[in-house]
Formats: sequence, structure tokens, C-alpha cells
Amino acid sequence: MTQDQMKEKVAEAALAYVVKGSIVGVGTGSTANKFIDALATMKDDIQGAVASSEATAEGLKKHGIPVFELNEALEKVGKLSVYIDGADEFDGGKNLTKGGGGALTREKIVAAGSEKFICIVDESKKVDMLGAFPLPIEVIPMARALVMAEASKHGGEPEVRAGFTTDNGNIIIDVHGLQIADAPAFEAALNHVPGVVTNGIFSFQGADVILMGTQDGVVVID
Ligand code: 5RP
Repeated sequence: MTQDQMKEKVAEAALAYVVKGSIVGVGTGSTANKFIDALATMKDDIQGAVASSEATAEGLKKHGIPVFELNEALEKVGKLSVYIDGADEFDGGKNLTKGGGGALTREKIVAAGSEKFICIVDESKKVDMLGAFPLPIEVIPMARALVMAEASKHGGEPEVRAGFTTDNGNIIIDVHGLQIADAPAFEAALNHVPGVVTNGIFSFQGADVILMGTQDGVVVID
């Protein structure tokens, strides 16, 4: 099975977690795009979706799935029943790193507004320790040098993502060469640096269930 086929399988498996009649939180990236395609097959069974990025909103609309603003959805239904999204890495504690696509802040907000986070990944995303994938940090532009200096103090090599602006009008700093042994502590420490909007560690908003695509099928980690 190719990596693409594994992504399709986990996207289809995630449909089992979609609550009929609800508004679904939808992530960003190539695996989330497979989920959007799968969700389209049951679009008449849901009220609609909240998108974690402009790109995802566009994909949902192309399939005729109604897109709600998060505020509007939360005022309507309280919490979303489920948020479904991919990840760049996950560890044995279901801590994640995300933001390879630069949508980490909205992803974290929509995940926080949902009862459950179902993470859909292929087996290449499994790691013993987070950090091999460069950790994205969304930063208000005037804080660039400050945040880069702080990231270096933690042993990383920060690099501004060239030519990239987030949906919120900010920059992304990717930090290479990290070894993140204590994900909650590191997530909190980075978020305390002034100018950081958020970072790509999802430990406080970690996955409730991970659906991992393997050569032998979908493995459920809960
Ligand atoms: C986007 C993300 C994605 O979930 C992450 O980058 C994984 O993407 P893909 O499914 O394409 O491997 O966090 O900001």
C-alpha cells in the first residue's frame, strides 16, 4: 500500500467518529484533504463543518459542505463533537507536532473547541521522541528576532519559513534539531515568549484517538 492509500484508509476510518446531525471540525493538509473527500459522501448527514484554514474551507465548499465560522458554530451547538486532522509526528503519549502546512494556530483553536480530536496519520509519523520534524512557531512579525534567539537557547536551529504568511497574517519560524522529551513543558515554555501566537506542539490539545495507516490496515490507538 502506498502512503497515499494509507492516508485514504485512515480518512475513511475517521467517518465512524462523525456524529450525525453535528458540525465537524476539519483540519488541514494532505491527509485532512482525503478526509474532506470522504466526508463529502455523508454531507447530507451533517449540518456542516468548521475549517482550520482558508484552504480547507475552500475544499469543503467545493464539495458543497456548508462551512461555519467557529464562533457561530460554538454559539449554535456548544462544543463541536469531533475535530479530525493529520499531524507531522506523534509519540507514545499521543502528543503531536503539527503545522507543516502552517495552519497550527487555527488547528489548535478548532481542536480546543471540540469534544474529541481524532488524529489521522500514516505510520511514517510515529516517533519515539518529537522534534525530528522541524517545529513550527507562528510569530507576530516584529518578534521574529526575539523568538529566534529564544528558540536557539533551547538547542534548536530556527529558520524563517520563506515566502509564507499564515491565514492570520503572521510568519512561521521552523525550529530544526529539537529533542522534545517533555512536550507539555516545552509547549508552555515557547508559548510564554512574547510575540509567539502558538507553537506546533499539541500536548494540551493532544489526540484522543490516533488512526494510523499501516501496510496491514488501520491501527486504532486510544
Ligand atoms: C497543517 C498540519 C498537518 O496536519 C500536518 O502538516 C500533516 O500534514 P499531511 O497530512 O499533509 O502530512 O498540521 O498545518
